[in-house]
Amino acid sequence: MLFCRKIPTRTPIYISCRSRLPALCRFLATATDTSASKPFYITTPIFYPNAAPHIGHLYSLVTADIFARFTRISEPDRLVHFLTGTDEHGLKIQKAAKDRGIEPAVLCDALSEQFRRLGNRANISNTVFLRTTEARHREAVEHVWRTLTAQDLIYKGTYSGWYSISDECFYTDSQITHLPSSLTPVSIETGSAVEWSSESNYKFRLSSFQERLLDYYTTNPKSIYPSAHRERLSWGIPVPGDMSHTMYVWFDALTVYLTGVGFPAEQQGSLWPPNIQVIGKDIVRFHALYLPAMLLAMGMPLSHTLLAHAHWTAQQRKMSKSIGNVADPFDAMDTWGVDAVRFYMARVGGRFRDDVALQDEIRSLLGNFFLRITSRTIQKRVASVPQLTFVQLLDQSLDGPNGDVLSSLRNLKGRVEQCMEKFEVGDALDAIILVLREANGALTHTAPWSIQSPPEAAQVSYLLSLEVLRVTGICLQPFIPEAARNLLDALGVPKAERNMDAAAVGKGSVGEVKGVKLFEGKREIASGGQ
Ligand code: MSP
Repeated sequence: MLFCRKIPTRTPIYISCRSRLPALCRFLATATDTSASKPFYITTPIFYPNAAPHIGHLYSLVTADIFARFTRISEPDRLVHFLTGTDEHGLKIQKAAKDRGIEPAVLCDALSEQFRRLGNRANISNTVFLRTTEARHREAVEHVWRTLTAQDLIYKGTYSGWYSISDECFYTDSQITHLPSSLTPVSIETGSAVEWSSESNYKFRLSSFQERLLDYYTTNPKSIYPSAHRERLSWGIPVPGDMSHTMYVWFDALTVYLTGVGFPAEQQGSLWPPNIQVIGKDIVRFHALYLPAMLLAMGMPLSHTLLAHAHWTAQQRKMSKSIGNVADPFDAMDTWGVDAVRFYMARVGGRFRDDVALQDEIRSLLGNFFLRITSRTIQKRVASVPQLTFVQLLDQSLDGPNGDVLSSLRNLKGRVEQCMEKFEVGDALDAIILVLREANGALTHTAPWSIQSPPEAAQVSYLLSLEVLRVTGICLQPFIPEAARNLLDALGVPKAERNMDAAAVGKGSVGEVKGVKLFEGKREIASGGQ
């Protein structure tokens, strides 16, 4: 069984008789623009506000934010539209409200606010935060529902199966198991309790789209990243038992991506389709089959890329509110600082391959490097010789460790761009870290603070290190926006020179250098090396 989440009795049924077809046609006419100049539209999944956010949710947000911020510095003239929000209908929410003895709306108001706060705290640059209980969303859902019903793609039927409220999902006999330790059967995949459920519900004729979806994924193999997720889907589509699926609240949830661009109003059509949809691997199937089928039915272009990320685990299990093995992202950011947490997520989890388990290197590689290079001793020694600019320095040939640093730095912009193009956030960050590590090594080797090193050599080290900081500072903006801004401010880099264009060696300038604290958080790093 592929598609999950049934419509609970309290979920509003979205049917209205008012025709909006003319508006839809106008919307579609403008919606087919998928060229590079189209505004960049990126989405995260919308979060269930059934419990407080955990670190796994922050991961979806940070991943999407890195791409949003990278696009802003790569294409400064391109509009970036970035959606996140909360998914407020469904049994999961009802049950959580009931357990606390409050109304679902009260629960959603409180917890949705926490997800909004999480985004603000973590410097997530979303441009829209949408709640599925908002009137504008209801209008979009009604519109999609009417369009699908008019094509006889939605019908009433009954469905029986093993239902997990926690996963909002039906399972088949072969997908569940009976554990001696558990009173109820559980899902083999997630370990969540299931119960037998039989109900009359809406179904969607997914089977009508089987061929077109297979064709689409054959001709657009890069539309799901990493590709392992696409391979896993291909067996899912043709299974005969899966031809028709119960119509669940996923329909409501997935429509949020349309609501987010102002659908069904006409003016906003140029934002569609999403360029990147960041999703956890648990919800690939909904985004890779159900959403495209809905869009095909609507005659709308499909998302360019589904970027599926791995899960954060604790005690070898997916971190999950239902299991209770969650880490509090607010605590983590209070303890380590926002950028340290963002950095860690991108560095360790950003490979989109394996599940992840923490470390802290950016403070030493960047913070310490900055402290060493801006120390008074070095500044005094540099001031004692005739002043050179970095561009003048480039006329001299640098050798030894400095030469190696310069050549790595020259390649950095291209390398970062290439990795981001391939959605390898972790590799992009790796490339930046590698240059910083090499530059730290070269600095230790040259020891410009030591009286053994001639002041001229100190100046070379100084100018080269500033260029390293300028270029890496630009490249680090998507990952650790606050520390990168502090760094670029401290270096006096003009605002107009903080884009990827200026990340080429010698392409931008530094101004008067000021010493500042780059990172927030309780953990301080000792300045070292001299
Ligand atoms: N409401 C649905 C999504 C609807 S999108 C139209 C949902 N919500 S969720 O709150 O359960 O999860 C939201 C996102 O957080 C998903 O991308 C999910 O994969 C991610 N994570 C939830 N737990 C996670 C981890 N332990 N680790 C990493 N991300 C995980 O699904």
